[in-house]
Amino acid sequence: MKILIVFYSRTGVTKSAASLLSSELKTLAGDSAFVETEEIVDLKDRSGILGWIGAGRDALSKTDAQIRPLKAKVEDFDLVVVGTPVWAYTAAPAVRTFCERYGRSAKAVGFLCTMGGSGDRGAFDAMEKACGKKPGACLPLVVKPGKSESMEAFRTKMRRFAEQLLRTVSPNGEGRAR
Ligand SMILES: Cc1cc2nc3c(=O)[nH]c(=O)nc-3n(C[C@H](O)[C@H](O)[C@H](O)COP(=O)(O)O)c2cc1C
Repeated sequence: MKILIVFYSRTGVTKSAASLLSSELKTLAGDSAFVETEEIVDLKDRSGILGWIGAGRDALSKTDAQIRPLKAKVEDFDLVVVGTPVWAYTAAPAVRTFCERYGRSAKAVGFLCTMGGSGDRGAFDAMEKACGKKPGACLPLVVKPGKSESMEAFRTKMRRFAEQLLRTVSPNGEGRAR
């Protein structure tokens, strides 16, 4: 089976979560899965305080983002897992734009978000609407700013999420998914 993980990350938290998911999927599925990861690139500069202000404004107004065309062919994968930070109680604009542009070509989807506190429901609803399909599984992760808690602390949740995802593409438990 072929699994694509795509994510947008402004400050690296969602990128770390995507990387952890990739290693959990590879550990669980072994040779029965090919897992590829690609970053969604927002062409707008989101750095610094001005980038932060623009990010909040664009998320609130649901402005489409300019994203770099994806290298991977979404339709070639059995499952596409989409990762986003929560911005203003919804998905980051680059992720919503990705879902609108590529989501309908995906055979099946799963969603992952990282956030400071809340807003996962709004993010997942926006992604589902833009993809035009329900996710097989969703994982919200709260990452408190300033806390030294590493992504390692999320390994158990991530393992469970990876198991759920594998069941959606291999319901009979093919491969080594437990
Ligand atoms: C513009 C903006 C808006 C945000 N809005 C929310 C929010 O509504 N709820 C929340 O819990 N966190 C919010 N956050 C915090 C991020 O979701 C959180 O820090 C996330 O883990 C960052 O992921 P990243 O490092 O992959 O960019 C916001 C961050 C930014 C930059």
